[in-house]
Amino acid sequence: MSYPYQIKTFEQYQADYKKSIENPEAFWSAIAENFTWRKKWDKTLEWNFTEPKIEWFKGGKLNITENCLDRHLEKMGNMPAIIWEPNDPEEHHRVLTYRKLYEKVCQFAHVLKTNGVQKGDRVCIYMGMIPELAIAVLACARIGAIHSVIFGGFSAQSIADRLEDAKASFVITCDGAFRGAKDIPLKSVIDDALIGNKTVKRVIVATRTRTPVSMIKGRDVWWEDEIKNVETLGLTDCPAEEMDAEDPLFILYTSGSTGKPKGVVHTCGGYMVYTNYSFVNVFQYQPGQIHFCTADIGWVTGHSYIVYGPLSAGATTLMFEGIPTWPDAGRFWEIVDKYKVNILYTAPTAIRSLMGFGLGPLAGKNLSSLQVLGTVGEPINEEAWHWYDENIGKKKCPIVDTWWQTETGGILISNLAGVTPSKPGWATLPLPGVQVTLVDENGKEIEQGDADIVSGNLCIKAPWPGILRTTYGDHERCRTNYFATYPGMYFTGDGAMRNKEGMYRITGRVDDVLNVSGHRIGTAEVENAINMHAGVVESAVVGYPHEVKGQGIYAFVIYQGSHGQDTHGTGDLVRKDITQTVTRIIGPIAKPDKIQFVSGLPKTRSGKIMRRILRKIAEGETDNLGDTTTLLDPGVVEEIKKGRL
Ligand code: WT7
Repeated sequence: MSYPYQIKTFEQYQADYKKSIENPEAFWSAIAENFTWRKKWDKTLEWNFTEPKIEWFKGGKLNITENCLDRHLEKMGNMPAIIWEPNDPEEHHRVLTYRKLYEKVCQFAHVLKTNGVQKGDRVCIYMGMIPELAIAVLACARIGAIHSVIFGGFSAQSIADRLEDAKASFVITCDGAFRGAKDIPLKSVIDDALIGNKTVKRVIVATRTRTPVSMIKGRDVWWEDEIKNVETLGLTDCPAEEMDAEDPLFILYTSGSTGKPKGVVHTCGGYMVYTNYSFVNVFQYQPGQIHFCTADIGWVTGHSYIVYGPLSAGATTLMFEGIPTWPDAGRFWEIVDKYKVNILYTAPTAIRSLMGFGLGPLAGKNLSSLQVLGTVGEPINEEAWHWYDENIGKKKCPIVDTWWQTETGGILISNLAGVTPSKPGWATLPLPGVQVTLVDENGKEIEQGDADIVSGNLCIKAPWPGILRTTYGDHERCRTNYFATYPGMYFTGDGAMRNKEGMYRITGRVDDVLNVSGHRIGTAEVENAINMHAGVVESAVVGYPHEVKGQGIYAFVIYQGSHGQDTHGTGDLVRKDITQTVTRIIGPIAKPDKIQFVSGLPKTRSGKIMRRILRKIAEGETDNLGDTTTLLDPGVVEEIKKGRL
């Protein structure tokens, strides 16, 4: 493969950026020419941010899997597409060449078809990080079914909500998943999620852990049996379904400032072009390199930079089942050494956690294959940036700080490895085609003028091909969430600074969304879960700086009168019970780090909780609470300050 659209110099970046803004249609249409289309598009872009309505490559017909698989077979059939490293380093790894992956995807596509899955059906995938997960995702795409992957750390209740929202008719899961020393019983969680569910017709279960599972007659089937069945039927190649460029490819649920997660919808054509373009340019991928993105496919990072971006570019993508600290904190470095990884893409939280183990785990690991490092998910502090640069990249690897979101499909702001300048803590410049701006609270664009640094709310003025198209089943929600705050613009929910060179530094969410270890969690979601616990009268959740997680979850809870400040005995027990409730309702990722019992919450006279004050207290800035005169009962603040954990 060659990438004629790969930017090689800073001057070319500037020229391409200019072109992309002056004539987005010509710019993206020239890039899209490099893909396999069944039929070319009639119109490159049609859009308005009012409804919103965004259509890229309108009238174009394609299947993304023909771009990820079929088109590589002739020249690269024997090249590794996926290298899979198991949780247990003693277990054998697996390599799937493009030919092998193609065959497996076709075979499983037949399994889906023989089980009644049709184009447009929603298929929920709840699996661990095994090759079958990537195969399931691609098999859905092959037949035009819409996949909705759910991260293995979500609870049965969360899955049930997502199944219902998407009206999913199929589930693909595993008996269990290995993660470090743990063995997570995925099928059993699915069984709980399906109690009372009316839409799911069939559950396909792949074998991984051999954890005992109950298989319900008429509903549950084994992956391996189904494969045997299509083999017996002699079904091999599976022609790809012809998809419209704007047909949905997948749904991915993410948290917002309201209680209910939203199903972000991405479509086939634009998402394909954008993930490929950003992959090739940000990481400066060269054919033959090994790309290791440490994310889980349950998050958008895994969708875009383990599966679709790399595979559409004919790259070798490394998929790791386990966690960075098991069996010890040298696991990432061992993998880099073992497979001679060239590109490592991970999260600041992982870097900070590994930093805590010192340099011991690096001893004896040869990291000289590394050429590019990347980070994603949250702001990276300078200390972590330098540690990564010095000890992992040995000061010879560019670090790309990639800012993006589930909704953006791919990276929007980042330096291009070795091509555009980097700056620790700064995501730097927007990719071509991305018109970033900062606005004040009235939606007025902030001019740079003579200022060294300005700051504001991060917005985007025009569509790029990977932008979300809707939130599943509720377009109005998409409009109000992203396009209504500042009319005519896409609002990211993030705050940012900009320097004179036009570089951006993301400062974090300005809405009620937390970023815990790079995972997005809505405060309202956590509050709803806490409030479900018997005895809880009311709660308020805010974030506070956490050394490893970036942000920790701090909950202020009014608990049935008498237990108020009780910390000996009952208090701790109640804390554990509340934590258990949150784990049940959302999942372990949303567990509060701190629970403070209070007798009241700071409210305005109109009854609104003043989170600003709680945030300050949680951060430890108790001296500087700002104006508290509008509070209904200022006394409550003193009490909360005293009881701070
Ligand atoms: C939020 C999106 C898409 C990647 C995984 C997270 C934060 C993401 C950065 C970065 C500072 C970042 C933002 C954003 N974020 N990347 N490089 N620097 N902050 O996807 O779960 O949709 O979360 O993650 O706050 O809004 P997500």
